[in-house]
Amino acid sequence: MLRYNTNSTVKSWCSWLPYCLILLFVSGLFENAVAETHFHNFVVQGESVKRLCNTHNIITVNGQYPGPTLELRNGDTLVVKVQNKAKYNVTIHWHGVRQMRTAWADGPEFVTQCPIRPGGSYTYRFTIQGQEGTLWWHAHSSWLRATVYGALIIHPKEGSSYPFPTIPKHEATILLGEWWNANPIDVINQAKKTGAAPNISDAYTINGQPGDLYSCSSQDTVIIPVNSSETSLLRVINSALNQQLFFTIANHNLTVVAVDASYTKPFTTSVIMLGPGQTTDVLLTADQSPSRYYIAARAYASAQNAPFDNTTTTAILQYTNTSTSLKPLLPNLPAYNDTPTATAFTTRLRSPAKAPVPATVDESLFFTVGLGLNPCPKGQTCQGPNGTRFTASMNNHSFVLPSTFSILQAHYQGVNSVFTTDFPAAPPLQFDYTGNVSRALWSPVTGTKLYKLQYGSSVQIVLQGTSIFTAENHPIHLHGYDFYVVGEGFGNFNAKTDTAKFNLVDPPMRNTVGVPVGGWAVIRFVADNPGVWLMHCHLDVHITWGLATAFLVENGVGELQTLESPPLDLPQC
Ligand code: C2O
Repeated sequence: MLRYNTNSTVKSWCSWLPYCLILLFVSGLFENAVAETHFHNFVVQGESVKRLCNTHNIITVNGQYPGPTLELRNGDTLVVKVQNKAKYNVTIHWHGVRQMRTAWADGPEFVTQCPIRPGGSYTYRFTIQGQEGTLWWHAHSSWLRATVYGALIIHPKEGSSYPFPTIPKHEATILLGEWWNANPIDVINQAKKTGAAPNISDAYTINGQPGDLYSCSSQDTVIIPVNSSETSLLRVINSALNQQLFFTIANHNLTVVAVDASYTKPFTTSVIMLGPGQTTDVLLTADQSPSRYYIAARAYASAQNAPFDNTTTTAILQYTNTSTSLKPLLPNLPAYNDTPTATAFTTRLRSPAKAPVPATVDESLFFTVGLGLNPCPKGQTCQGPNGTRFTASMNNHSFVLPSTFSILQAHYQGVNSVFTTDFPAAPPLQFDYTGNVSRALWSPVTGTKLYKLQYGSSVQIVLQGTSIFTAENHPIHLHGYDFYVVGEGFGNFNAKTDTAKFNLVDPPMRNTVGVPVGGWAVIRFVADNPGVWLMHCHLDVHITWGLATAFLVENGVGELQTLESPPLDLPQC
């Protein structure tokens, strides 16, 4: 197996020192887990690719679609030089990497850095600390991540192994994506202009390929080979822009062992559901008769009457020595609106053992998440419902990114015209969030408001979905942190009755939580990472509409609790 597709790898603590060779020799004797530094070059550039019978020039990393898979071990350091040879601004985000004290390398445009302009470059440096499993990286600028994304795989430290019931013989990465027969940047720019929802995609993809059920695609369908009776680890990543997906394999069971690079108590299921941003690691044993079986994914579309891409992407699970002319068996997938199946999956997730969940909270926050409609500005025509414009908000605030400064730089330099820290801890107005909401509450205010957290504080956030315009499942992602999902449910969160039902023993740890359609989810974490951390819905169209806020986490005491100083090549606005 290809372990490291690095350009070069050196022992981080001895590079270019004269006694490096001696140190290497000694470290070899002790065979200790020695952290390594991996260097990569990412050239963001256009590339012609043919999908669904048409050729498009898409933005890629190094001409690859999906982009390169990065593999390293827990404790290692990544140094990725990103050169922008495309015509758009770009940044790269390392989704789910905690970035302890290195917020400068997190990547969201205008939050932790100004974008890398065409012709520019920036080197991301960060260390993986205490994380193992499947994460990914993606562009964090407009809709570039439609084609600019790839897997980030963190193996256990040298000498340690997976805590799984069966140690897998093989590994495969399955990146689920979304494809438009158009330039995705044009799709979102058009929607921004008219106020309407963007066009739905034309296909979903597995490792960049739509698969057999689409025209002109069969030739390139992805094949995952397996040997009878052997177990493989499948790392499934939802990198689609705007769609939660069900994922299943015909006739096979999946044993879930991790989500979002946090291990789980293993359990077996025939179908999993992932929101954009989420990952799920499953063990698959090739215990069926040697043949070919479809691996398939299609939408979990929770919003009523909202258009969505209802196509199905497939790859083929192929046993050794089976004829490639054999027609694969297609699995049953849940109905598009099968919320009970989605819920049954997410509520089975548990941490492997008793987890250090914060037992008390210093900051008890309540954030509504949902859509909205704004009236059409005078003299314009708008193509949202009834001539309006779509918007979205948290606590009635639609988040606006700055355009001349990054928030983190403004914070670091004490510039105070870029953002404020008065994001409300609770909705400005209480109402029946999931009921029939008065039209007077459909239009949020705009602003760049953050919520300030003291270093080390325990935080609880109730994420409450609203039914404004339509209720929908929202995958909420927090940068810079993993959090425990201590509870979820439908309807309005009721502090009296629901708090008592929290799982404070073994809740799952994630970086992206699906807030149930017309319901709520509650997360807890300790604010132990100073910096500016975006929290947003990972349906990209909702970020565009403002479904976001950010936390400003202050420094603690001493160097180890303090944000590092910015890299010298940090892009300027
Ligand atoms: Cu994977 Cu802010 O995103």
